[in-house]
Amino acid sequence: MIKNICCIGAGYVGGPTMAVIAQKCPHIKVTVVDLNEKRISAWNDKDVNNIPIYEPGLSNVVAEARGRNLFFSTEVDKAIDEADMIFISVNTPTKTYGVGKGMAADLKYIELCARQIARVSKTDKIVVEKSTLPVRTAQAIKDILEHTGNGVNFQILSNPEFLAEGTAIEDLFAPDRVLIGGDVTLEGQKAIQALVDIYANWVPKDRILTTNVWSSELSKLTANAFLAQRVSSINALSELCEKTGADVNEVARAIGMDSRIGSKFLKSSVGFGGSCFQKDILNLVYIAKSYGLNEVADYWEQVIIMNDHQKRRFAKNIIKTLYNTVSGKKIAFLGWAFKKDTNDTRESAAIYVADDLLSEQATIAVFDPKVEEDQIQFDLNYLETRSEEANNKGVQVASSAYDACKNAHAIAVLTEWDEFKTYDWQKIYDNMLKPAFVFDGRNILDKQALEKIGFVYQGIGSR
Ligand code: NAD
Ligand code: UDX
Repeated sequence: MIKNICCIGAGYVGGPTMAVIAQKCPHIKVTVVDLNEKRISAWNDKDVNNIPIYEPGLSNVVAEARGRNLFFSTEVDKAIDEADMIFISVNTPTKTYGVGKGMAADLKYIELCARQIARVSKTDKIVVEKSTLPVRTAQAIKDILEHTGNGVNFQILSNPEFLAEGTAIEDLFAPDRVLIGGDVTLEGQKAIQALVDIYANWVPKDRILTTNVWSSELSKLTANAFLAQRVSSINALSELCEKTGADVNEVARAIGMDSRIGSKFLKSSVGFGGSCFQKDILNLVYIAKSYGLNEVADYWEQVIIMNDHQKRRFAKNIIKTLYNTVSGKKIAFLGWAFKKDTNDTRESAAIYVADDLLSEQATIAVFDPKVEEDQIQFDLNYLETRSEEANNKGVQVASSAYDACKNAHAIAVLTEWDEFKTYDWQKIYDNMLKPAFVFDGRNILDKQALEKIGFVYQGIGSR
């Protein structure tokens, strides 16, 4: 029976996932380790509201388990040495150099973990891939671990994570399924069972699915590709709706009631963001190409092409509507996170829309309830479109939406935060330049109510 778990990587997946395992399994000691000292000290902050990741419900789970059987540490070697089971939950970003640049997953952090586990381990371990990995990565990890020559036995499992940010705790408490891939050998099956036993502390057995390693690895990429494809499909239709007078919300509702299609993931938007969808589809495309499956690769690449188009066309529409120039005009951004209820901004559509508007010399005033100013500047600087000074000059970060919108020519809604719906929109209107425009990239505001106040309102996918 597993008594001691180590998780390498205290990020958006490692942190919440391990906090829930620790809360649900008080008999298991769970240590989450990371090289990033700042992140670990934030996880250990006395005030549980200062943990580095904002997720509804997470601080309560951490408050219950931390110090009891949940620990955050930078002592990676020690935690590996003590553990019976090691989760690898490090980042696997798109490669920014060399072969596969811009497409393939960068596996250097994974390989470093495998080498460190190989170097430190003195007792047998089960190594669990929690990170999203290209199909057949387990083989590479296995090769590294099996060549340690110190007689330690390793079993490698694939256990991809399906949580979505903003609902991570809900998703972890009641997952649609838990997927565990392992070897068909007796030892492999024993390792699978050890992980099944952990999840079975709170997940019904019929929701714990076991497969071979390769199916498990590929299922994760496939799930994200299917989800992203639905968003791109409805976004493709949103442009046609705008031309024809159909309303994309009505179309989504009508098709979503078909039980074969289903109603989820049909919300038209300014484009999907987040650290996973684009990265995982690019990875899928790269893998397909590497096997010479060009039609398969092209098919999935189209999901990304459509998403880029959606972000760009949102910015273009703002410029066109504001009489073909935004130079010197103030545009208020409501929201910067890639979706509501998270402080994560990775690949957020807001970044790309801002970048396009800054290139047209607009001034942007951002308000997001959970994103800090430093992060916003970091996101723009990361694109390297212009100097840091220029980004600093072009973007102000406001402490309230009311401030952001004061004297603005237009408002762009980039994140669907619930609080935006509760604002005093009359007050916002009164303090704006006229005509006052709202570009609702999330279709969350009440068009009729805003038009009654005097706003010129444009949503996505309707006239
Ligand atoms: P993240 O960047 O938030 O966290 C990764 C952490 O790993 C970082 O804090 C980093 O410092 C640490 N790290 C990297 N190399 C290390 C090493 N050698 N030793 C110790 N620490 C190391 O990333 P994330 O969002 O948590 O994603 C992790 C993985 O999970 C990725 O493969 C991602 O695709 C996958 N995933 C993410 C989500 C999500 O919603 N974010 C959902 C499902 C799966
Ligand atoms: C996704 C997957 O949902 C999750 O299973 C996986 O583990 C990680 O990747 P995440 O990126 O956190 O999760 O959030 P998700 O809810 O999938 O949203 C991704 C993006 O798509 C967001 O920008 C969201 O606003 C957008 N989206 C989602 C839409 O534009 N319309 C929709 O109908 C749904």
